[in-house]
Amino acid sequence: MKKALAFLLAVVMMLALVACGGNGNNTGNTGNTGNTGNDANTSDTGDTGDTGATTVANKDKPLVWFNRQPSNSSTGELDMNALTFNENTYYVGFDANQGAELQGTMILDYITNAIENGEEIDRNGDGIIGYVLAIGDIGHNDSIARTRGVRSALGTAVEKDGVIVSDPVGTNVDGSSAFVQDGTLEIGGKTYTVRELASQEMKNSAGATWDAATAGNAINTWSASFGDQIDIVASNNDGMGMSMFNAWSQAEGVPTFGYDANSDAVAAIANGYGGTISQHADVQAYLTLRVLRNALDGVDIDTGIGTEDDAGNVLSDEVFYYDEATRSYYALNVAVTAENYEDFLDSTVTYAPVSNKLDATAHPTKNVWLNIYNSADNFLGSTYQPLLQNYDDLLNLNVEYIAGDGQTESNITNRLGNPSAYDAFAINMVKTDNAASYTGILSQ
Ligand code: BGC
Ligand code: CA
Repeated sequence: MKKALAFLLAVVMMLALVACGGNGNNTGNTGNTGNTGNDANTSDTGDTGDTGATTVANKDKPLVWFNRQPSNSSTGELDMNALTFNENTYYVGFDANQGAELQGTMILDYITNAIENGEEIDRNGDGIIGYVLAIGDIGHNDSIARTRGVRSALGTAVEKDGVIVSDPVGTNVDGSSAFVQDGTLEIGGKTYTVRELASQEMKNSAGATWDAATAGNAINTWSASFGDQIDIVASNNDGMGMSMFNAWSQAEGVPTFGYDANSDAVAAIANGYGGTISQHADVQAYLTLRVLRNALDGVDIDTGIGTEDDAGNVLSDEVFYYDEATRSYYALNVAVTAENYEDFLDSTVTYAPVSNKLDATAHPTKNVWLNIYNSADNFLGSTYQPLLQNYDDLLNLNVEYIAGDGQTESNITNRLGNPSAYDAFAINMVKTDNAASYTGILSQ
């Protein structure tokens, strides 16, 4: 019903646009063609009609935050100013809690199946299933959710003020940490203790988080002092997970679990990598550029998303949902294990239902400024950006990719020196608290 109404409004608006003599130059009018859903009847005020080029103020241009949701990195509270910066502002990410739960369950299922199949999980036979955990960024919602998901599935979580503690334990070989507890698993008539032996934020000395090399060093340190107690390696992402797998766990035959379903991690499942989670980057990368495309075209924001577009692109609600209150699109996650990994071997392939190229006359080329917070980030570099680069052609967007160093926001904002040269912006902050450093520039 709502959709039908939105569609009707979109049609009415298109007719209005045609009626007032709009053609080529109208499509450049990104500000206010009523495409936000809740106020779809806003008049087409930015359309100057006859004067040729329409100038849209930078502060009114479409803006999408992606991968790092504007939020307070200590409390997780969303930065609603950033999320509602203008009428065409959105966030694109994935459902962190659903994915985190899936990751925890995947690890628990692995342990259960292994024991039921008579495999040796408790390597030193001390009755304790010990795991270590690589934490990406203690101030990043995705990272926090995954730490909680693993602890909660394995029974090691403790709560404080009604939420699961996500702090790293450092080392906890004796089980005395206050941030976790020993869990208990009853499998095949036997009772096992589960212990988080160690966990740490993988931040390098220069300040880059989710740092794969740091994780490789950590597993070397941990295994040197209590290697025979480590039965499972868990990681907040595949970059760190693969680094630990390569440094230690593959050779030891210790199952290692990550997140992201990067191609190299999926391939490693054939060699003993335990499993990973696809956060449907193929859907996220599409949504990231699609919301900009729609805003630039002045069409309903749902076009080519929940509503099929003129090229036949459409997403089903099995792969994403939209939360209007936070103006956020969330892709849904899928577990990738030995059972299904062959379907996920190339993480850079566009999602088939949204892989039809838009007509270049109806959707003329627009310029987009887009940054990646850290060019060395495994997921963004090997999965997300290649996907964006496949979709930008399909959506007729000329995207300039700006690479950050993962540490210094100003290295990126400095490269937003001439926002007037772009029609829209896609931002991946170094720190989720820093949205104002970008919106400040656009507001000048
Ligand atoms: C990914 C990580 C990545 C991080 C960057 C997360 O969603 O899972 O691999 O490092 O985003 O912000
Ligand atoms: Ca053990």
